[in-house]
Amino acid sequence: MTDGAAARRARRPRPFFFGISLLHILVLGAAAGGGFPQWNSNDPVARRARAGDVMTRPRTQSSIAVSTDRKKWVLFNASPDLRQQINENHQLQPTADSPLRASPIAAVVLTNADVDHVAGLLNLRESQKFAVYGHDRVLDVLTRNSIFNVLNPDFVARLPMPLDTDLALRDGNNEDLEVRVRAFAVPGKVALWLEDKNAKNFGTADGDTIGLEIMDGSGSSFFYIPACAQMTPELAARLRGAALVFFDGTLWRDDEMIAASVGTKTGGRMGHMSCDGDQGSIAAFAGLNVQRKIFIHINNTNPLFVANSPERAIAKAAGWQVAEDGMEIDL
Ligand code: MLT
Ligand code: MN
Repeated sequence: MTDGAAARRARRPRPFFFGISLLHILVLGAAAGGGFPQWNSNDPVARRARAGDVMTRPRTQSSIAVSTDRKKWVLFNASPDLRQQINENHQLQPTADSPLRASPIAAVVLTNADVDHVAGLLNLRESQKFAVYGHDRVLDVLTRNSIFNVLNPDFVARLPMPLDTDLALRDGNNEDLEVRVRAFAVPGKVALWLEDKNAKNFGTADGDTIGLEIMDGSGSSFFYIPACAQMTPELAARLRGAALVFFDGTLWRDDEMIAASVGTKTGGRMGHMSCDGDQGSIAAFAGLNVQRKIFIHINNTNPLFVANSPERAIAKAAGWQVAEDGMEIDL
């Protein structure tokens, strides 16, 4: 993309009608795969989180919800913790005047086939109408794994989300949700559980990892990029001047899991750029004039989870926030 999201944004009308904000964003889960604390983690920080230390608040796995009317919500990724997220966020629960079976969840948009992004679909069985959007590469994964047939095709539409195309999202009754998305490929990797060890780049193809620009009809727009391996010039041009970007905060430093003796992989090997370092996201965003930058999809080893850590102070000084479950933003 060269013509620039910034130019497109500038052409749009102002983001407010009569002072009413139109894009409502709710962070459902700020952690990466495994959540925080991860089920088998006995790290000191995990122990503090379990003990209720307010400096190390727990986070569920990676997902946000977006609505323009606060009645119908679009999930961006379906986390394995979705049932908990619904129970903790009244916005996603049936209201007093709903029918006996009802849900405000009108659509789910998938950014990749990570376990932390698709497993939650299995919570949404029960013949409730909604739509699932994904790139063909990700929809193919659902087709090939018959467990996803628990989403009865008579009720749940699976709809392709082509790259670099403005798409108006619809609910399971084909009604316009007044949320638009533009999907774009970002550097990344096929989901860990789909890696082909014998293939070049583990069998990764365009569409395996996407970023999204999420828009309403009035000109509000923000970016949701929970996985990204590298800041390319194209991506930088796209993000320049954005009002808000949620960005991959998986690791603070590339070798963090190795240094902590809890893993053998670098962030680069996992398809995630790190926050810190010359090639890291904090440096990459430094000149981009993004108005609000929020790390999301944060791994349990990342010191950003400790609210008074030196790393959190560095991120804050560079203008970054750390997503928390339940965080709400109106654009
Ligand atoms: C990732 O973001 O790299 C994956 O969620 C890793 C995993 O599947 O555990
Ligand atoms: Mn993930």
